[in-house]
Amino acid sequence: MTALTVPTMSLVLLVGTSGSGKSTFAAQHFGRFETLSSDFFRGLVSNDEDDQAATPAAFEALKHVAAQRLRAGLLTVVDATNVQAEARRDFVQLAREHDVLPVAIVLDVPESVCIARNAARTGRDFGPEVIRRQQGQLRRGLKALGKEGFRRVHVLHGEDEIAAATIVREP
Ligand code: GTP
Ligand code: MG
Repeated sequence: MTALTVPTMSLVLLVGTSGSGKSTFAAQHFGRFETLSSDFFRGLVSNDEDDQAATPAAFEALKHVAAQRLRAGLLTVVDATNVQAEARRDFVQLAREHDVLPVAIVLDVPESVCIARNAARTGRDFGPEVIRRQQGQLRRGLKALGKEGFRRVHVLHGEDEIAAATIVREP
């Protein structure tokens, strides 16, 4: 068991390539309304969770809801790949604006596992090249996260560490 400490007043970013298990992890460890998923918001604004053209509108809506939740003092989790520094920067900024701590939980799963999992999914037709690009971005991100302003960075390597993780909320 590995206890990942998360301040109650925080904005938690899940970070990981497609297929790394972010949505699965979020469903296991966080409440129904605590997790804001980019897929779900794509669905809300376009009727299609997989419509990548809906991504800008989806994130605009997601950030708006995140801001409302943080204002209400509610822990909030962002379920998106968050492998790009620019994407993370907006959320670090949002956390600061609401006086909560930005926290990153990284799911670092081998490329081959993510590719195999996505191949088995319906509705996720990302080819291996998409996962490879995201893995490259993740590798660069792993070195940068601390300097980006995250107050806690939890990195889980592989399926066993992810399965053994528990979340401990700190007042
Ligand atoms: P995107 O939404 O595409 O970014 O992916 P994601 O990171 O949210 O991954 P998701 O949680 O949807 O998991 C992808 C697939 O892997 C699903 O079919 C899950 O059932 C499976 N999966 C997730 N976590 C695990 C795990 O720990 N073990 C195994 N065997 N499968 C898992
Ligand atoms: Mg997901």
